[in-house]
Order: sequence, then C-alpha cells, then structure tokens
Amino acid sequence: PIEKRVDDLLSRMTLEEKVMQLNQYTLGRNNNVNNVGEEVKKVPAEIGSLIYFETNPALRNSMQKKAMEESRLGIPIIFGYDAIHGFRTVYPISLAQACSWNPDLVEQACAVSAQEARMSGVDWTFSPMIDVARDPRWGRVAEGYGEDPYTNGVFGAASVKGYQGDDLSAENRMAACLKHYVGYGASEAGRDYVYTEISKQTLWDTYLLPYEMGVKAGAATLMSSFNDISGVPGSANPYIMTEILKKRWGHDGFIVSDWGAIEQLKNQGLAATKKEAAWHAFTAGLEMDMMSHAYDRHLQELVEEGRVSVAQVDEAVRRVLLLKFRLGLFERPYTPATSEKERFFRPQSMDIAARLAAESMVLLKNENKTLPLTDKKKIAVIGPMAKNGWDLLGSWCGHGKDTDVAMLYNGLATEFAGKAELRYAAGCATKGDNREGFAEALEAARWSDVVVLCLGEMMTWSGENASRSSIALPQIQEELAAELKKAGKPIVLVLVNGRPLELNRLEPISDAILEIWQPGVNGALPMAGILSGRITPSGKLAMTFPYSTGQIPIYYNRRKSGRGHQGFYKDITSDPLYPFGHGLSYTEFKYGTVTPSATKVKRGDRLSAEVTVTNVGARDGAETVHWFISDPYCSITRPVKELKHFEKQLIKAGETKTFRFDIDLERDFGFVNEDGKRFLEAGEYHILVQGQTVKIELID
Ligand code: IFM
Repeated sequence: PIEKRVDDLLSRMTLEEKVMQLNQYTLGRNNNVNNVGEEVKKVPAEIGSLIYFETNPALRNSMQKKAMEESRLGIPIIFGYDAIHGFRTVYPISLAQACSWNPDLVEQACAVSAQEARMSGVDWTFSPMIDVARDPRWGRVAEGYGEDPYTNGVFGAASVKGYQGDDLSAENRMAACLKHYVGYGASEAGRDYVYTEISKQTLWDTYLLPYEMGVKAGAATLMSSFNDISGVPGSANPYIMTEILKKRWGHDGFIVSDWGAIEQLKNQGLAATKKEAAWHAFTAGLEMDMMSHAYDRHLQELVEEGRVSVAQVDEAVRRVLLLKFRLGLFERPYTPATSEKERFFRPQSMDIAARLAAESMVLLKNENKTLPLTDKKKIAVIGPMAKNGWDLLGSWCGHGKDTDVAMLYNGLATEFAGKAELRYAAGCATKGDNREGFAEALEAARWSDVVVLCLGEMMTWSGENASRSSIALPQIQEELAAELKKAGKPIVLVLVNGRPLELNRLEPISDAILEIWQPGVNGALPMAGILSGRITPSGKLAMTFPYSTGQIPIYYNRRKSGRGHQGFYKDITSDPLYPFGHGLSYTEFKYGTVTPSATKVKRGDRLSAEVTVTNVGARDGAETVHWFISDPYCSITRPVKELKHFEKQLIKAGETKTFRFDIDLERDFGFVNEDGKRFLEAGEYHILVQGQTVKIELID
C-alpha cells in the first residue's frame, strides 16, 4: 500500500512541488531554540529535506509544522545529519571499529546512534562511509573501515542494520546513507576532493564491492562522491548511478549529492553553467541536490525545454516519497519532546561505547611482556593526550563535547586506584616547538616505575579536507619520547589518532605500544583496563601501518608483481611496520590444521573449511580468524590474497574453539571483469589462514 500512497500523492503534485522534493537545504547552524522562527521563515514549506544541526526537536518540529500545515499537500520533510560514529554518545571512529572485527557490536553502536538521533529530530544519517582507503594521508580514512573491500562491506552492512533495524518507521531507527559513491577513497596522494584514476577493473574489484554489500543490506540511500572516476564525476556518472545501482542492483532508494557537488561540476569542467550541471547530475541518476540550488533553480526549466522528462522527475520524487512513507513521517511527522537525559548516555549506550572501544584497541608491540602493568607502583602519565577531551572524540563527532569525554588520565586513576600512584606531566602540546615542559616530564619519568606516554593527533587533522603530507607525529612529540627515554624506565606508548601513523622513530623508544585510535566518550577506562590486564586486548589492524610515509600506498591485497615481491627501496625496508591484521594479545593462541570439506570441487558444489584454535595461555582472550583466498593463476592478474571471511570468538584459557568458513565458489573463488561480470575459472585455489595454505582444485 505504501507504493499506492506514493502514486496517489504523486498524481496530485504540481511540477513545482515535485521539484522542491528533490532539494536539501540546511536548518539550525546559526539557530537555537530562542530564534526558531527566523530560520523557519527562510525555508519553503515544500522543501524535500533539511540538514538539521540541532539536538532539540523544537526547531525541527516548527519547520515540520510549516511543511505539514502551510504546504498545499502537507508532505513532511526528512531531516538528515552526519551522525558518523555516534550522535551524542560518541563511540570510536569507524577505522577503529573495524579493528574490533566485531560487526555485531558495531551494529549495536549504530542502533544507539539511531535512537539518540531520531529522538533528537533526525530521520536520516549520512553514514556509513564505506570508501576503501589505502592512503593514510587522506583525512577521511578515519571515517571508513580501512583498506579492504570486504571489511568495508561487512561493517557497512552492520551499520545499515544498526541504523535501520527491520522497521524504519520505529521511533528509534533512522535511514542510512552509503557514501561516497564511489571511489572517493582513491583521492590522488591523499588530497581531498581531487581527481581519482580508477580503472574499470579496480572500480569493480575494490571500490564497488562494499556498496553492493551495503545495498543488499537494505541501505535506504547513497551519497554521490565529489571525485571524478577516470574522467566522469561521481555526481554526474550514469554508469555508476543508473546502470549499476538502479538497473543491476535494483536499488529503490535515492541518491543525495554531497554538499554542493552539483555546483562543483562546473569546477570539474563538466558544465559551464549551473543549469548544465543540474542536467548532467539529474539525468545521470542523482535524485537529491544537497545545497547546490541547482535543481530548485533549473529543473523545472529543463522539463519545460524537454531536456528532462516529467517521467524522470516522477521517478526521482517517487523514490524520495517512498522513504518518507517508510520512515512513517506522514503518520508521525513530529519528534516527541524528551529530555537529554532520556536520550543520551544511557547506561547501556555507554556500555556499548566502552566495549567497542576496548575491542578496537590494538596492541602493536609488547616487548618483554611490559604489559600488563601488574606490579608497578608508580606510574608517570605523560603527554598531550593524557588530559585531553576533544582529541579523543575524533572528527565528525556529531554533538559530542569535550566535557562528555572520559580523559585517559582519569581512566588510569580509576583503574589503578589503591594499586599504584600516578604522577602527571603534559610534557608538550600536540604541536609547536615549546620544550618547556620536558624537564618536568623527565622528572616524573625518573620518579616512576613505568611511563605511560599518551601521544597523538588532533581531531581536526582527520576528517573532511584534513589531509596530512606526512603521517608521522609532530617532531615535538617524538622529541618528548626521546627525552623520556633518558630516564631508563619502560615506556608504554598510548596512541590517539585517526589514521595509521609513521612510527619508525617511536617504535624503538617504546617497550609497548597500544593503539587506541580516537576512542570516543568512553575509551579511557577500557584503555586503562588493557594496561592493568583486566582486559585482554583483541583488536587487529584493518589498515596497514607503513614503515614510512614514502611507502604509501601500501596495503596487503596488492596485485601480484612480475618479480613476486612488492618492490624494494634502497633506503628503507619494503615491508610495512605493522601489516593488516596485526594485533597482539596477552594470551597465546595455537591454530590446528586447516581442514577443508573437500580438496577437489566442481561448480555448484558446497565447500567449507574449519580450523580449531586453542587458547594455550593463562588468560581468557578473543581471537579473530581471517580467511583469505588466493588464485595463483587466472586470466587476469589477481591480488596476492583477498580477505573473504572473518570471525571473532572468545576463547577461555585452555579452551579450543572451531572456526568455520562456508565458501561460496562463485563469490569467493570467482572474480569480476571490468564490467562487473562474474567468472569462475577451473584450476587451483588457495585458502590461507595464519601461515597455512590449503590447496583446492576446481575441476570443470
Ligand atoms: O555527509 C557529508 C559528506 O561526507 C562530506 N560533505 C558534507 C556532507 C554533509 O555534511
């Protein structure tokens, strides 16, 4: 019946009303509940969508009232917002989430985000970002799930389920938006917004897969990308928006442009005027214009000139209305009033934030079992991240505030209360060249049994338009670490950052390194719990840490080369410092022999493989098994290996668990060509798990 209601409504709309449904303006950036009226006056009652920057439903409701009561047909507005890794209860950045290898937990975190957002007046989030990214100079690597296409697809799908649930009209769910469709992560040299060179083969192999998985998971919308794809901008690309998304994948939702992306088609040299830009974007399949004012000004005129058909406009509006009906906006256009206490920081939400933070932290190094700190009585807590709120939130932190954040020092103080004495010194600021604090920090280090050195990046160094030319920490922070080394005490380096870092100078100085990313509001106690040994670390890297910036791009699933290696440098190693999948534990896992259900298969056969993992250490711990496939000979050059499945399980000390991979031959052994057609060739395939290789033969 929803489809019927859409058709009925559509049949009663004028062209002008239809066109207005395809525009998104903003509401609330310069507003507060005290000047609600001013902003509302500026926006037409017929507008399709608004970006809503407030947390109080009052402004939304007054705008919605205008739409419901002053527009001729009373069509509700859909309110969107960037709730990327939480709305107010901010959880770890998406890159960190991927390192948890726990999509169920990510789904729960996204459900929290949806509950808080919807209760605050937001129906639609511009998340998840599933742009495969292999250049850590690019600031937006923080927002995605790392370098691997499958990982992005799995976590993207989990986010979609968390945001949308089974019923979008539920009062605690919101619509998701897969972004940025497509190839934005391939930004040349990590510079934001720029040209990307993506062959059709790579487009399919690498960049489209997560979107296909996200669409299958039911994502209501997508956002088009700023970049061009080998000459055709994402926001005016009929191949990706119409041919692939709508025709082949059958997506019945809609695409919104990125902010001003239609207008920017002029800068990209595709269109000389805004009107031409509107024509390119709309006819390529882009339904909603975010802030370019291209559709509201020119779409009607383009129809009148016969360059766009009414049927095309109807189809676009139909998609927008469909989502509004699915969200239940016609029945319940207004957001009920609730207190912030009812919406934010619910105990269960905070618990999810803490668990996700704990699972996403990666123990990169632990020489001589420096960690856990079981017998240390005097701990020096040093560094610009130790008493810092903002930088722990990370970029795109929704409505998060620094005062919401548990600071690392406080987490340590709680964790070690009654067990160890703490002394704090900042040592230096995050950047700059003021070394005045070095002496005090060195004194604290000399006093201590162990130094917990909290270094990292500012939140503003990641996110949109926040690229860095070097992924090292600022020199002042490296100098502080070198200075502290003089104390001769073990150094535990705790890193707060939004991208993989160049650590080759800090690594030799540090006895242990714990990567905690930007962990959100509730990461301090989990971090301290890992340091004390209360929590056994279980995170593994979803993105390679290069040895140095000069190695970029470096990622595990590179294509095979003629000489069988990834190339050599004269001055540095060709290996990354920490590869994809790296992450240490306090316990030890012993893998059994990988056992396939068959070693010879035919097309259409079922195939699976199992491996047992025994926790042979003294502590309980969680292990993630990564299942890779490699195709040694193929009619196109394939990656050295590709992740096809992963599973994380808690294994108690002394216990053995079985991990299983159900292999779909077409999906896991097959490959797509440069137009997305899937092939499965007879021959040899390898299943790779933790240093083991199992050969499977596919016979015709
Ligand atoms: O959703 C974002 C997008 O990721 C980058 N440009 C602005 C959009 C809306 O805020």
